[in-house]
Amino acid sequence: MENLNNKHKKENKKVILTYGTFDLLHIGHIKLLQRAKALGDYLVVGVSTDEFNNVKGKKSVYSFAERTDIIKSISYVDEVIPEKSWDQKAEDIRKHNVNILVMGDDWTGKFDFLSTVKNDLQIVYLSRTQDISTTNLKTAISKIKVEKIAELKTAIQRIEKMLDNL
Ligand code: CTP
Repeated sequence: MENLNNKHKKENKKVILTYGTFDLLHIGHIKLLQRAKALGDYLVVGVSTDEFNNVKGKKSVYSFAERTDIIKSISYVDEVIPEKSWDQKAEDIRKHNVNILVMGDDWTGKFDFLSTVKNDLQIVYLSRTQDISTTNLKTAISKIKVEKIAELKTAIQRIEKMLDNL
């Protein structure tokens, strides 16, 4: 059952709803949440559960509980709910009395069918911040690891040579 305190806080407010995995929080996430909140008064964020990430073929570094705590601590965010499946959006829109559904523009048009769920529902696709994503960050971090391993190998080879020459 919905927390009565949250329900009360949403009354007479323009409610925005958005979704995402939000792993390895980065500036693209922050800007998306900031711009989403600027469209209304109360921002609800659906954070993908670890099980749903599996369905999407994603494996997050941070657990669902950790990602939830991180997103909750952002000042633009008023409430976090679990995103457990692709098809919960209609129910969430009704339950939270949502006015605006915000998605990244990589989804443009894909959720327009939800406009029939509620008369006054607006669906807004926000542009993504360029040149940053969790996937990019993971690639950059693993490159650092590869470089470090190569450095260590070179150092070991030098030491081995020195030992051979003793
Ligand atoms: N987002 C954004 N700009 C980015 C990256 C993400 O505006 N550069 C938005 C997405 O459009 C989405 C939300 O942030 O609305 C959460 O996105 P998520 O998929 O969790 O982040 P990504 O960094 O895109 O993750 P991945 O690389 O795993 O797809």
